Amino acid sequence: MAIKKIAVLTSGGDAPGMNAAVRAVVRTALGRGVDVYAVYRGYNGLINGDVKEMNLRSVSDIIHRGGTALYSARSPEFCTEEGMNKAVDTCKKLGIDGLVVIGGDGSFRGAQDLCRRGVPCIGIPGTIDNDISCCEHTIGYDTALNTCMEMIDRLRDTSESHDRCSVVEVMGRHAGYLALNVGIAVGATTILVPEVPYDFERDIIDRMKKTAATGKKHFIIIVAEGIGRVEELAKRIEEETGVESRATILGHVQRGGNPTVYDRVLASRMGNYAVELLLSGKSKRVVTIQQDRITDFDIEEALKMKKSFDSELYRVAHEISI
Ligand code: F6P
Repeated sequence: MAIKKIAVLTSGGDAPGMNAAVRAVVRTALGRGVDVYAVYRGYNGLINGDVKEMNLRSVSDIIHRGGTALYSARSPEFCTEEGMNKAVDTCKKLGIDGLVVIGGDGSFRGAQDLCRRGVPCIGIPGTIDNDISCCEHTIGYDTALNTCMEMIDRLRDTSESHDRCSVVEVMGRHAGYLALNVGIAVGATTILVPEVPYDFERDIIDRMKKTAATGKKHFIIIVAEGIGRVEELAKRIEEETGVESRATILGHVQRGGNPTVYDRVLASRMGNYAVELLLSGKSKRVVTIQQDRITDFDIEEALKMKKSFDSELYRVAHEISI
């Protein structure tokens, strides 16, 4: 069946670079003679028919912007039978032959359900968590890393001035990739991630005392959101070491901001590839990058895969933070 009309949406937590992906999808499709609809606010837009036909200029001036011009949402209604049926009806009514879903694993589960109901879908990984197993870099991860690094460098300035310990929470409920890589980039004394169990005395207090004995007077402890409790950790650290400590939760500032070069290029490549997949009759695939090559996986298989944590990098981080 020739593909004549496709749609694109962004879903779940937004990520810098999603706009570049949308732009690439729209421009690739139009350039190949395929009509494109934007679906607003994730799957909610499909349920409510909140869609708009795009032209080449609809995606002008968005490549450099964070957030998503299509807006985003997590849609509980889409998880119900009724919501799903409404979404499928919208696709049928509009004559949509394929849908590109830009989001994380929750969004891909939705795409998989749509595929089962006869709507061909392609997923593009957009999440700052970098927790899509088959993909080395998700869209938004590089920008979030750089944003965190910049914020924590600022915390370092003030920690240093006051001989303090800064306990910083970065995003990642179930994934410590952001915490680990940022932790290395900012020279953290300790990095706590959900993938590795930690011992308060051994991993925080002993490390602080050892480095303090060599003259270190200010400290950065990076804590992934999945571990949390930074206020409590800061209080205990102060009690046990006597080093004045402050907790900072970076929060949603990590999700905004202009995408980096890496994220813009990655998103552009992935958006282009996603349309090619649809045009070649493919469905239920997720676009990925492996060793700088854009490729694709079956969504179902991708969702079953477990991303291994880089224990070697974790080891290196701690070996050099003495
Ligand atoms: O998945 C991206 C993410 O930013 C996670 O790191 C974080 O745990 C979650 O989304 C926060 O979600 P929300 O924006 O719904 O609070």
